[in-house]
Amino acid sequence: MSEQRLCALTDIPDGGSRGMLRRDLDDQLCVVRQGDEVFVWLNDCPHEHRPMEYRQDRFLSSDGGHIVCYAHSAHFDIRTGHCFAGPCTGQHLVKVPATVRDGEVFIPAELPSIFD
Ligand code: FES
Repeated sequence: MSEQRLCALTDIPDGGSRGMLRRDLDDQLCVVRQGDEVFVWLNDCPHEHRPMEYRQDRFLSSDGGHIVCYAHSAHFDIRTGHCFAGPCTGQHLVKVPATVRDGEVFIPAELPSIFD
């Protein structure tokens, strides 16, 4: 599978999040870093298929413990994308498989579809 470089690991604050791959007004990806691990999700809330951040790069709860969609406060596990509270409880974010090599983050050349 071909891949693309997304960013340097250090472009994402440890314990924080970034929006990436901007298209028009929205970032297509929600990217969360925890140490040397990076979790990448389509920035597409399963509730109403909207972007999730409350402002640029802000996807996480105040304690950094989970992803929050600020439209209607759906809460998602950072590692699994599982929605455990809010209007789409039981649904999932769409994962973008990411690998970290030599301090660089790579994702597949083609993003997954929200309809998979
Ligand atoms: S659009 Fe995300 S909780 Fe409603």
